Amino acid sequence: MEIDGASAVVTGASGGLGGAIARTLHARGARLVLTGRRREALESLASELNGADIAVCDLADRRQVVDLASHLADADIVVANAALPATGKLEDFTSEQLDRALDVNLRAPMLMTQLLLPGMLRRGRGHFVYVSSIGGKLTMARTPLYAATKFGLRGFCASLRQDLHGSGVSASVVFPGSVRDVGFVADAHLPLAPGSKGVSSDVVARSTVTAIERDRGEVDAAELPARIMAKLAGVAPEFTARLGRRKAIIAWGDQVAEGLRHHR
Ligand SMILES: NC(=O)c1ccc[n+]([C@@H]2O[C@H](COP(=O)([O-])OP(=O)(O)OC[C@H]3O[C@@H](n4cnc5c(N)ncnc54)[C@H](OP(=O)(O)O)[C@@H]3O)[C@@H](O)[C@H]2O)c1
Repeated sequence: MEIDGASAVVTGASGGLGGAIARTLHARGARLVLTGRRREALESLASELNGADIAVCDLADRRQVVDLASHLADADIVVANAALPATGKLEDFTSEQLDRALDVNLRAPMLMTQLLLPGMLRRGRGHFVYVSSIGGKLTMARTPLYAATKFGLRGFCASLRQDLHGSGVSASVVFPGSVRDVGFVADAHLPLAPGSKGVSSDVVARSTVTAIERDRGEVDAAELPARIMAKLAGVAPEFTARLGRRKAIIAWGDQVAEGLRHHR
């Protein structure tokens, strides 16, 4: 669908990729609603983007998600980008942390879709974009919870897209590889995955635009080796799984889990 003149909501707009996606949609002429928990970060971005609207919301709180959706009734585009990194061994999470990751990364995007979809269907126009991760196609050690949410978004979107076919409303998933300039890995000064040079946030933002404008079901926003591995995982998952539990990957996973522990 055309972005110019559309009303677009970006969750996690106070963060690295959300900010980059919001700036790119703004440059394409979208009217923006920026959401996240950190009001100051949202206000600062809103003033940069000529007074975009902001909506402070904790996506782990189910009632707040319903309130948020009730204020977004005329949204044409929803970019569900907010997420917790939720990296580490499953047994290292408390059950509250497990619930929070599922709520923020998977349940909130599904609930927002359920609440905003009827209005879009009535208007015969709309697009949902779910920001997954290349880790939503490829299995790596130390990411069972994150992978559950990111694979989950893929399945949710793929089936939803079938149901929406021909309605004027559509849905896409974007799969970023490790992002080198902004976001939770860069902010914590953690290394990228072994052998990865990473992608820029600009690539992820442009992939989001491609998904909307060209109505693509899935867009990989990763460097070439990661894109090849993701394709290979579709035909030979046991093979790519073996590569995903190499010693270097496990050591990296442990380092990232430790470095991002404060996000749980
Ligand atoms: N960075 C990477 O290398 C990478 C790679 C692949 C995929 N991704 C995906 O890209 C997306 C953005 O990640 P990022 O790297 O930009 O991370 P980030 O800078 O840490 O941003 C995460 C965003 O999520 C929001 N958020 C977290 N918990 C929330 C909650 N309970 N309620 C509302 N908002 C919440 C944060 O907002 P507040 O702090 O204001 O609440 C923040 O705006 C995520 O879906 C991530 O999985 C990132």
